[in-house]
Amino acid sequence: MQSRQQLPSSWTTLPVILATLALLVSPVFMVKHENFKTCDQSGFCKRNRQFADSASADKSWSSPYALDASTIKFSKGQLEGTILKSVAADEQIRLPVVVSFLETGSARVTIDEEKRQKGEIELRHNSKARKERYNESEKHAIVGSLKGSKDAKVADGAEKGTTVIYYGPDEKFQAVITHKPFGLTFKRDGKAQVQFNERGLLNVEHWRPKPPDVPAEEEKKEGEEAKVEEKKVEESGEDTSTWWEESFGGNTDTKPRGPESVALDISFPGFSVVYGIPEHASSMALKQTRGGDGNYNEPYRLFNADVFEYELDSPMTLYGSIPFMQAHSKDSTVGVFWLNGAETWVDIVKSTSKANPLSLGSKDFTTTQTHWFSESGLMDVFVFLGPTPSDVIKSYGELTGTTAMPQEFAIAYHQCRWNYVTDQDVKDVDKRFDKFNIPYDVIWLDIEYTDGKKYFTWDPLTFKNPDSMIKHLDKRSRKLVTIIDPHIKNTDSYPVVDALKKKDLAVHDKDNNIYEGWCWPGSSHWIDCLNPAAIEWWKSLFKYKAFVGTGSNVFIWNDMNEPSVFNGPETSMPRDNLHFQNWEHRDVHNIYGMTYHNATYQALLARSKAEEKSPRRPFVLTRAFFPGSQRTAAMWTGDNLAEWSHLAASLPMVLNQGIAGMPFAGADVGGFFGNPSKELLTRWYQAGAFYPFFRGHAHIDTRRREPYVAGEPYTGIMTQALRLRYSLLPAWYTAFREAHVYGTPIVRPNWFVHPEDEGGFALDDQLYLADTGLLFKPVVAEAANSVDIYLADDTPYFDYFTYKTYKGKGSHTIEAPLEKIPLLMRAGHIVPRRDRARRSSALMRNDPYTLVIVLGSDGKAAGELYFDDGESFDYEAGAYIHRTFSYADGKLSSADKYPEKGKGFDKYAKSVSKLRVERVVVVNPPAEWEKVAKVSVTQDGKEKYVKMSFVKGESGHASYAVVRDPKVQIVKDWGIVFA
Ligand code: NOJ
Repeated sequence: MQSRQQLPSSWTTLPVILATLALLVSPVFMVKHENFKTCDQSGFCKRNRQFADSASADKSWSSPYALDASTIKFSKGQLEGTILKSVAADEQIRLPVVVSFLETGSARVTIDEEKRQKGEIELRHNSKARKERYNESEKHAIVGSLKGSKDAKVADGAEKGTTVIYYGPDEKFQAVITHKPFGLTFKRDGKAQVQFNERGLLNVEHWRPKPPDVPAEEEKKEGEEAKVEEKKVEESGEDTSTWWEESFGGNTDTKPRGPESVALDISFPGFSVVYGIPEHASSMALKQTRGGDGNYNEPYRLFNADVFEYELDSPMTLYGSIPFMQAHSKDSTVGVFWLNGAETWVDIVKSTSKANPLSLGSKDFTTTQTHWFSESGLMDVFVFLGPTPSDVIKSYGELTGTTAMPQEFAIAYHQCRWNYVTDQDVKDVDKRFDKFNIPYDVIWLDIEYTDGKKYFTWDPLTFKNPDSMIKHLDKRSRKLVTIIDPHIKNTDSYPVVDALKKKDLAVHDKDNNIYEGWCWPGSSHWIDCLNPAAIEWWKSLFKYKAFVGTGSNVFIWNDMNEPSVFNGPETSMPRDNLHFQNWEHRDVHNIYGMTYHNATYQALLARSKAEEKSPRRPFVLTRAFFPGSQRTAAMWTGDNLAEWSHLAASLPMVLNQGIAGMPFAGADVGGFFGNPSKELLTRWYQAGAFYPFFRGHAHIDTRRREPYVAGEPYTGIMTQALRLRYSLLPAWYTAFREAHVYGTPIVRPNWFVHPEDEGGFALDDQLYLADTGLLFKPVVAEAANSVDIYLADDTPYFDYFTYKTYKGKGSHTIEAPLEKIPLLMRAGHIVPRRDRARRSSALMRNDPYTLVIVLGSDGKAAGELYFDDGESFDYEAGAYIHRTFSYADGKLSSADKYPEKGKGFDKYAKSVSKLRVERVVVVNPPAEWEKVAKVSVTQDGKEKYVKMSFVKGESGHASYAVVRDPKVQIVKDWGIVFA
């Protein structure tokens, strides 16, 4: 290659000119801040922050909420009473409170408003909205038992003015309720873990009539909005300017119930770090939000929104919301789940009391103080007292459900772009993958496949023959995913919209007419899946007869379900819109998207039950989500950019989804907007191979970038990354099983795996694949040749490909030229793989397994393998194989994980009886094995000897031994004695 010096001078200036031109023409991606509210522009957010500011400025501040002791009743694990909010010398607002101690060991606190429960309020503007505070979030989010614990009991002899309840396993948990002011401290083994209203920021904005002296919004002249904001501070000192109406971006919210937010401060004494509350493009360890070096100035916002060209390192809201937070310290993990479907903000600050230098053993003590506020609805908070990260996530999973067990194809590779333009194009792409020997399972169609953005139709010119397209894919065991959004085109001659209107199944506007807004199709209506009748109707649309051209290998992508409304406030729906049974949109905004993708899941399930012999598991991808979404959908992180920074940001985002109970998550590989360089694309495939949801996707204006387009060496390197994913599918599928049963994350951050390692609390750029001991760190920098990976303890780790050894707590540099994926194996694990390169996961079904045993100094290792038919629900009746592998004292044994079997086991086990182990690799075996030529293999009581080869490790690489084809069956118990 010519060096730069040898170029004629005109050539050296050319790149500069080109680069300058490129800067001028290449799009600059930047979020439009002006489209989204800051806290100051959101009435209730501003009010609650002001409330917090005045409380902390006032030394004599005392929360005006008191539990009326005479109202307390306790029975069946539930304490009921009334909190009185003093608003004037002679006025108290009655707020019924219920503190439940559940059988499961979790606690729940709900606070309602008596007047609204009884419907004794008046609505303005002749609104048809419901009068109660929204109390149905539970109906959508909770599937677990809410049964009170029989064993929870009120303690005798509690201090005056307090009520103490013992609950949880062995009554280790304690709730100390202070009556005046009302406060709650949750303790474990006598130590405070979670405190409610410790800072006195509890705030329930009660209903009140609008005073006549405040001018009505209608009377205000246009353009006065800003002035009004500043102006009204009433005698009480309260800023009432946002109580009765709120305008933003030209839209006015009529707020027929006036101000109604709920807020609470929740402190975590002794906890220096908190995680969770996705979705934000931010670090996993949440930052402080009240200013200061490296901190945010805005609270984390949870308001499902279509944030175009979102920015990184920001507490701005994104597409989905999970108001579940974990606080973590070396010896304790606890969690709170704020169950509210309305817009929510969370402020975080930390305070540290310094250790007393004169007192031996005294340490700094950090408390993380959080402050939560939601626009409307009940106050409803669950508390999980751990003590470990997996205890907390299990408790959350027990309540909201766990991730659906996916079909196997769904965890393989998905190829998407906006758009594959014809049915022939789809077939061509499919063929090219085969031609280049690149594995893939699913090809996707974005909105352009439809006839004029009318979902459930095909463009008659470009998708003339969808049937032949899906058959072509089916022959290769491949699937198709088509997009179906919740906006239904408002047009003539479209039976879907006709039915939506006729059956009255759409969301209504504030005047109770069918709501109309703009999205991809232009004028549209939105299905209201809060209405059970809408779900029933939705089901009917997915029948093969209704959605002609689809079949059993077609699955669904639900996008734009925040909902995204191009001409609506903050690109969404007006908050005073009305849903089924007249709940206002503001109450259910964050839940809406989940009701929609749940309906799609139900529809696919119903379709499968009606059309197939044995129903198959649905696959739905959603952009908007809420607690409970994990039960029916996978998610992706929306419209990222083809930039290195976005590749880096995807890791914390995906990790955060996992610890927040929705682990089936991924980011658009390659970046949605813009054209990635070949290097960036290649690195993204390497990273994507470790996203639970692995899909390449690109914007309509981008160049084609399927892995075969780039050419060598890139195509080959991307293929290697894809093959790595495919070869590790047995480990991924086993991880999904664990997530399905226990709610555990699939990819895990350091703190989750090593809770005691303070040095790793903030780490969010490397991950463990479930319990496999595989530790991966993506390269996220241009032209990097190495990465530094952090090891949490002194256990040895080995390079996955070369067996180079890394040992010692702290940072280690790993060579990572473009073709190298930084992946380590932690000693003590056994990893199942399938090493034969195939073109799709279905073609690997009958392939034999390789087991990799990774040994440390204690000479012990363990691992698991779960599989089933990868498609049907038969696993629910026991049609699955779940083996444990353990290695100790020179012997590898395979045993059933659960000796009790379901009724489907025998038949299934018979059908897979031929599956065998074709290779056992032992990494870092004892040196004496060099002299061992054969190992003894025992199965069915018969012993045989099989050859073993030994390769001595050199210069920092571990030795390894290989046993080829021991011919042991996966479904059987067996043992291999090595020495
Ligand atoms: C927005 C989604 O985030 C993106 O992935 C999709 O391609 C476009 N909508 C078009 O449907």
